[in-house]
Amino acid sequence: MTTIYANYAATSPTLPQAAVKELCEYLGGVHLNAGRNFEGLETGAIALRARRAMAQLFGVSDPLRVVFTSGATQALNMAINGLVREGCHVLATTVEHNAVARPLENLRKNGVIELDWLQCCPDGSLDTEKVRAAVKKNTRLLVMSHASNVLGTVLPVTECFRLARERGILTILDTAQTGGILPFLMEDCCDILVFAGHKGLGGLAGVGGFVLGEAALPKMRQWVSGGTGSASHSLDMPEFMPDRFEPGTQNVIGILSLAASVEELLRAGVEEARKRESGYTARFLSGLREIKKVKPCGTLDPDRSVPVISLVVPGYDAGDVSRCLFERHGIITRSGLHCSPLAHQTCGTFPHGTVRFSFGRGTTEAEIDTMLEALSAL
Ligand SMILES: Cc1ncc(COP(=O)(O)O)c(C=O)c1O
Repeated sequence: MTTIYANYAATSPTLPQAAVKELCEYLGGVHLNAGRNFEGLETGAIALRARRAMAQLFGVSDPLRVVFTSGATQALNMAINGLVREGCHVLATTVEHNAVARPLENLRKNGVIELDWLQCCPDGSLDTEKVRAAVKKNTRLLVMSHASNVLGTVLPVTECFRLARERGILTILDTAQTGGILPFLMEDCCDILVFAGHKGLGGLAGVGGFVLGEAALPKMRQWVSGGTGSASHSLDMPEFMPDRFEPGTQNVIGILSLAASVEELLRAGVEEARKRESGYTARFLSGLREIKKVKPCGTLDPDRSVPVISLVVPGYDAGDVSRCLFERHGIITRSGLHCSPLAHQTCGTFPHGTVRFSFGRGTTEAEIDTMLEALSAL
């Protein structure tokens, strides 16, 4: 039985051929760490190439403001902890991933911050007025997912962030589910844009990062410190970017995979990928309308979502449905709470969860039709 991968929201299962070729060549040669060798033996060039690709993707003029981490989780922890101050008030939405919710809850429980959740609608959408109403005198930070990893719903981040920034509030955007999927330019939309390398950007697991806006630079404290191979006389982290936020030995292979994959994405065009993948979402949603026993969640509008569709089959356990789809039809989905209990509470699927289908670079129309047939046959 051939398998059909429908779990792109978790990770991208294959690399573009150009990236595989480059990685093989790199692994067959000498691999050194960056910033710790003689000129000519430098691997820093790989990171610079990846920074340039990321800067081009998000429309950022200075590639040195792109910082690499082990993933979006580490980047979100660094961004949140770097921007909050004792006693400040923080806002985030009720569709956030635990990569945002847990660091914030941790700070709240330790008495560092006051925290309020902006209540999203059951389809995952958010009324921008909620931001206006929730702002307090000491509100310092607004953190938002660009799109929910459970419902696929794209949030009105530009409008919400504009409202926040007019009030002097700092903003963090989590693009884990939209990077390389939804064309988006950072410009002055947010202060920190966080990305996951191994999803829509097509890199290997273990790489991600953030792009630091110019205004946030002086306000962001280091949350992780250590050796950078630069300014080693000092016990303080260097002031200059990107060393200021990149201590320790980097994941050169992950960064190389990201450079090669994002360059390929830029060649093919994110708009093209968006058109193709929205088509899959539309085809899947239209097919689901004919399958009465299945209840999809979210906006059910491909133009307002990324290719992530959660559904429930009333009377059946989500895990059993997911297992049945795999064992009988070779379809790989993900069931449960998807590290986002808040999103499931928002759409009314907590604590049982949903079966999540998500599409990406390797998905085909024929696969969409097979998934619909499998759901009909459940
Ligand atoms: C919305 C969202 N934010 C953050 C993350 C964490 O990303 P990473 O795996 O790069 O740490 C995920 C991963 O699923 C996600 O979906």
